[in-house]
Amino acid sequence: MSPKLRVGVMISGRGSNMASILAAAEAPDCPYEVVLVASNNPEAPGLAFADERGVAVWAHDHRGMKRAEFDRLVDAAMRAANVQMIALAGYMRLLSPEFVESWAGRILNIHPSLLPKYKGLDTHARAIAAGDGEAGCSVHIVTPELDDGPVVAQTRVPILARDTPETLAERVLKEEHRLYPAALAKCAADVLRSGNPA
Ligand code: GAR
Repeated sequence: MSPKLRVGVMISGRGSNMASILAAAEAPDCPYEVVLVASNNPEAPGLAFADERGVAVWAHDHRGMKRAEFDRLVDAAMRAANVQMIALAGYMRLLSPEFVESWAGRILNIHPSLLPKYKGLDTHARAIAAGDGEAGCSVHIVTPELDDGPVVAQTRVPILARDTPETLAERVLKEEHRLYPAALAKCAADVLRSGNPA
């Protein structure tokens, strides 16, 4: 079997996108494997989920630490696990420019809006308040700015007249779970094909 790209997933909470990334990795022809799930929140429910499935987990509380100092710990954990690509999955902290730079082009993020619209929080409430006809989710390459960087995949979801931020979030999340593993697999396959996976 051809080698798979080694992916580290970063979470801060529930971890449902991480779970969808793990589920897709079970397919024999999936071009990536998840070798580490890391979190800035030792209480993140997603950590227990990954641990129960035999995936290595790493957690450290970021509170009281400078951003760059904390990110150096994450970086060391990723390098120790020989990670080749990072997937942010509900990682709710901005990364330091140093961290982003040292993984340039190798960090993906999923965001629950049709980027470049609605970076940051409360994306669904903002889309409804603006009277938008559709919302959605985007996977993008991470740059130092929040929810910025080239979009590699996007799914559109219609906003219904009766939608609340919660009902819309639920429908968009279902699409996130389809979009993220597929986008990650495509990026992983591209990196493997490039012959420069390290
Ligand atoms: C997801 O909806 C993800 O798109 C969003 O947080 C949620 C995490 O859920 N991420 C962002 O808003 C990043 N700016 P999960 O922990 O169940 O995957």
